[in-house]
Amino acid sequence: MSRFIPYGRQSIDKADLQAVTEALQDDFITTGPKVAAFEEAVAAYCGARYAVAVCNGTAALHIASLALLQPDWKVLVPPNTFLATVNAVLYAGARPAFIDIAEDGNIDLELCEAALEKDPTIKALYAVHFSGNPVDQGKLARLKERFGITILEDCAHSIGAAQAGIRAGSCTRSDASIFSFHPVKHLTTGEGGMVTTNSESLYRTLMTLRNHGIVKTPGMDPWAYEMRMLGFNYRITDVQCALGLSQLKRLDGFIARRRALAKRYDKAFEDHPLIRPLYPYTSDSSYHLYVILIDFERAACDRRTLFEKMREEGVGLQVHYMPVNRQPYYRSLGYGDEKMPVMDRYYARCVSLPLYPDLKESEQDRVIAILKGLIGA
Ligand SMILES: Cc1ncc(COP(=O)(O)O)c(C=O)c1O
Repeated sequence: MSRFIPYGRQSIDKADLQAVTEALQDDFITTGPKVAAFEEAVAAYCGARYAVAVCNGTAALHIASLALLQPDWKVLVPPNTFLATVNAVLYAGARPAFIDIAEDGNIDLELCEAALEKDPTIKALYAVHFSGNPVDQGKLARLKERFGITILEDCAHSIGAAQAGIRAGSCTRSDASIFSFHPVKHLTTGEGGMVTTNSESLYRTLMTLRNHGIVKTPGMDPWAYEMRMLGFNYRITDVQCALGLSQLKRLDGFIARRRALAKRYDKAFEDHPLIRPLYPYTSDSSYHLYVILIDFERAACDRRTLFEKMREEGVGLQVHYMPVNRQPYYRSLGYGDEKMPVMDRYYARCVSLPLYPDLKESEQDRVIAILKGLIGA
């Protein structure tokens, strides 16, 4: 019986295990020197000046949003993202404004520009580099320059990706970027997240928000601390960061493997009449996801049957994403009826196929063969 092939999973090797075992024997297993070392290493990898590590990507979004947004600001967001991106806007008391996606699954920056021209109450943009494929950095720069908006890049999918030579997370065109180190992402700390920025004042605020709003300054009594804002315990542990540091050494290899597997999928579907990749192969993408579009109107089965039959065959598929604005909670806030023709068409056809560094080519071939058998041609 062959092992189950999920849509994504971590890769843990002996060096990772050793790093974690060693970290567990250190004096500090909560916040210790490995947290700062991991922050420095990720900041250097991305080309950003500062980084703040936290317990997950949602916490990163939360503190970044509190630090960047003003209550009542309108914030442009894509519907094609995980809930957390948009929820963070609400956490900060601001209002999301959903913008349709472009054909590559990313927020449509032309539509963002049109919305900004019409509505001066829009003050920020949350750009998700969907699937690992970065949004156009030139267009991002134009929006920032023309409208002076605050920009957050959600890089949960895109560590190691670059567009026009600009690395995801370098914050060259944005105020801050966030990452997730969930096991399906490129590198994992179990749960984990990070914010990168080039602003020293933002960095200081984020460090304070991560730890209950507490500040300690030289000259204070040894036991003393001051709470200056309402913060959280969003700390990550040294043990997790030991894993993160070890994984970071393997990251370029992970990305190379993901790209190679993406190329193999592209090749497998190149002449297929009913299946095509979301976008043709690009080395800009660090391929967190491999998304295909299936013409279900002409396929031999519908999407639900496809999911069920593939699962019976030991293959996990996923859909990224259900449109956030159509969720019941967002409907209760008055969202959900926006016209998003590209998102709707995309959502009706998208399927994410298994993609992770340890996926064997023989397993990938099995996925392809079962999928083609079920879809027909
Ligand atoms: C685009 C995006 N943003 C944010 C998050 C939240 O990250 P986490 O699961 O680490 O809280 C995710 C996680 O799936 C994500 O895909």
